[in-house]
Amino acid sequence: MKKALLSLIAISSLTTQAQAADVKAGQALFAQRCAMCHGEKGAGDGALAATMPEGQKPRNLTTGANKYATDDAKLKEIIQKGGAGVGLSVMMPGQPDLNDVQIGDLVAFINSLKK
Ligand code: HEC
Repeated sequence: MKKALLSLIAISSLTTQAQAADVKAGQALFAQRCAMCHGEKGAGDGALAATMPEGQKPRNLTTGANKYATDDAKLKEIIQKGGAGVGLSVMMPGQPDLNDVQIGDLVAFINSLKK
């Protein structure tokens, strides 16, 4: 009985770990898919930022001052659908090929950038 209880605890702590968002994985995805616009550290200073018109620049994600993505659910939504999907600029592309876990990892990384 005691042994069964222990393995139950072991299993539930394993699943909690598997579900916890992975900031490092999020950072890797961000470097591949977001940094060219938002900058390596999310300050809105990626290489492509200079090519974009005033008022449609990549957001500085370190301030947390977003127009639409004011909570995690909306952050997930804009990452998946892109700016056009939520009434923001088409310059902000969607990532429809990413799964929920990957988007959760990106959100965790973005939240870690806020000062
Ligand atoms: C091609 C350039 C580009 C890429 C790549 C890009 N973005 Fe953006 N992003 C933008 C622009 C431009 C805006 C500002 C849109 C606006 O103000 O209408 C923006 C806005 C945002 C916002 C703020 C939305 C708000 O509510 O104000 C978040 C969050 C964001 N991007 C996250 C990401 C993430 C995460 C990735 C990578 C998966 C990414 N972006 C990739 C250009 C880009």
